[in-house]
Amino acid sequence: MAKIKTIGILTSGGDAPGMNAAIRAVTRAGISAGFKVNGIYRGYKGLITDEIVEFKTQNVSNIIQQGGTILKTARCKEFQTPEGRQIAYDNMRKHDIDALVVIGGDGSLTGARIFANEFDVPVVGLPGTIDNDLYGTDHTIGYDTALNTIMWCVDRIRDTATSHERLFFIEVMGRNAGFLAINGAIASGAEAAIIPEISTQEDQLAELIQNGFRKSKNSSIVLVAESPITGGAMGLAERVRNEFPQYDVRVTILGHLQRGGSPTAQDRILASRMGAGAIDALIEGQRNVMIGDYDETIIYVPFNKAIHMDKPVDPSLVETLRRLSI
Ligand code: F6P
Repeated sequence: MAKIKTIGILTSGGDAPGMNAAIRAVTRAGISAGFKVNGIYRGYKGLITDEIVEFKTQNVSNIIQQGGTILKTARCKEFQTPEGRQIAYDNMRKHDIDALVVIGGDGSLTGARIFANEFDVPVVGLPGTIDNDLYGTDHTIGYDTALNTIMWCVDRIRDTATSHERLFFIEVMGRNAGFLAINGAIASGAEAAIIPEISTQEDQLAELIQNGFRKSKNSSIVLVAESPITGGAMGLAERVRNEFPQYDVRVTILGHLQRGGSPTAQDRILASRMGAGAIDALIEGQRNVMIGDYDETIIYVPFNKAIHMDKPVDPSLVETLRRLSI
């Protein structure tokens, strides 16, 4: 394998708090190891439009605490075509970039896998998404911050829910995964979470209604994962209004505020460890792997597994929430 001299780094897909900490870690660990590091702006789009700038250590100063991504991000349709990827590869060569570090979610790592195979270039991925839906890592970068933001929001909604004795459905992000909903519910003391992992097996709303939500209180908070499988907060509220008009129902959709904010200590540390891990992986000759954090240890997860294998929600979390919401 040709010796790696220059590494390109990009962030892609939905931004996540901690991406900047990861950019900083990859840049600094890369420079420490003797690599040249190039920042690629706007994800794969910038690789196609040639928005590539050399990064020195000072380019990543004072960013560890910032949300979003200083490299910007995009979802790039052109990179899904062979013609787009060819232009991206030509630009890589033009800048003498020998290897890529891609920070993003499953869509971004899918793009990375295709590109790496097509042009035989070493690519290492970092799991950067609030959804926590990538197999092979206990947590993804951004998940903990989003979880804390959800908890902060639900604490405030609870004040008004209690005052008015209302039932609130609060919709959270997560795409097709229920990690934010189930752990957000446990952290905020919500009465229930409706998550896609269970929605196919049982009618969670009917079960909730049957149990009378929380019997000891007149207000209730239910976190709903945004996946269409759950019916969404709007859909569930509509059902309650039609079938159980005795409840005074309201809906809050937390939306993109879940993606913002300064990363928590946990996300900064995870991003820093993973960023340094990406450089170690390249030095060791690894390619086409995602960096994972499994039981506090940095591991290399082949792209195929990270993207295609299901990451299940731990059933004991569902059980814990049930036991505590009596
Ligand atoms: O994957 C991260 C995520 O925030 C999902 O939770 C959400 O479904 C999606 O991105 C929203 O994407 P966009 O910012 O393109 O609306």
